[in-house]
Amino acid sequence: MANLTVRVGNMVLRNPVMPASGCFAIEYQEALDLSRLGALVVKSVSPKSRAGNPTPRICDAYSGMLNSIGIPSKGMEHYRKNVLPPYLKFDTPVVVSISADTADEFAAACEQISLPEVAAIEANISCPNLEADGIAFAMQADTTFKAVSAIRRRTHHPLWVKLTPNASHIAAIAHAAEDAGADAIVMGNTVLGMSIDVRTRKPKLGNVMGGLSGPAIKPIALRFTHQCYRAVHIPIIGCGGIQNAEDAIEFMLAGASAVQVGTASFRDPGTLQKIIDGLEDYCNDMGVANIRTLTGQVKLDHQLSDRWLRFAQQSG
Ligand SMILES: Cc1cc2nc3c(=O)[nH]c(=O)nc-3n(C[C@H](O)[C@H](O)[C@H](O)COP(=O)(O)O)c2cc1C
Repeated sequence: MANLTVRVGNMVLRNPVMPASGCFAIEYQEALDLSRLGALVVKSVSPKSRAGNPTPRICDAYSGMLNSIGIPSKGMEHYRKNVLPPYLKFDTPVVVSISADTADEFAAACEQISLPEVAAIEANISCPNLEADGIAFAMQADTTFKAVSAIRRRTHHPLWVKLTPNASHIAAIAHAAEDAGADAIVMGNTVLGMSIDVRTRKPKLGNVMGGLSGPAIKPIALRFTHQCYRAVHIPIIGCGGIQNAEDAIEFMLAGASAVQVGTASFRDPGTLQKIIDGLEDYCNDMGVANIRTLTGQVKLDHQLSDRWLRFAQQSG
């Protein structure tokens, strides 16, 4: 039987499959055995209480969906007492996702949530930075470095940093996260999009724009995952449009050590389990003894890959 365990920094996960933040709730335990997942990533929490964005907050898109939920939050204390405990009942590492408005706020929140029962912190730095006119931290290398190093100074917990595909210089941004002390990169969040109702002529989202997720963004997320893999030495967790085991394997071949699955679980809450089973079948069929050996094993023509690498470095 294939060995599905993978390493993300100094953490060993029983398999590479976990939910993406915000696309999973404790109620999924009715559809899945949460003790079989690689990790449990919880919806982002922000230190400040927030109501979230104006409604409507989601709408359909071809091969995906748009959302502008806006991270509603009742603050860290409420989160620690009420949201986190049900996830801790399972024999699965719990990853807390933090979102904040400034680098200092990020650092303070990450310090506060560095509890022994929390296995890792995921810093969702794809959110707006209020010190930079609301441009997401992860859209620039300098603001990425500032936020991640501020967090790193305040916690010894494993630190995963979630980047955004709405950035052009991804290699430089991934480098900045690594240099600032990230233990892993999650690549990545949603792609900024918009949709208009042609009868009312109004945007379909109350916030006008929102994040596109689902199969529509898979090739984009896969490309970013591969670019990050080539740019840094820390592990990459691939995310974006994964719906089945084959998609997950594509991300591993592109360079991911593990994967997160978001939108696909809305359609079928049993998706994560089906992906784990599919990975096992793939490994058994293909004679892969250890799934972790797939990471980065996409076969590239040598000359093409060198040329591509130069291009990737120039463009980011
Ligand atoms: C409804 C919804 C809510 C989300 N909430 C969060 C969140 O709180 N924090 C975060 O880092 N990402 C959030 N995301 C982004 C997902 O974690 C994931 O990065 C993105 O959807 C791409 O993966 P997918 O195509 O598999 O859904 C959210 C996505 C959706 C669709």
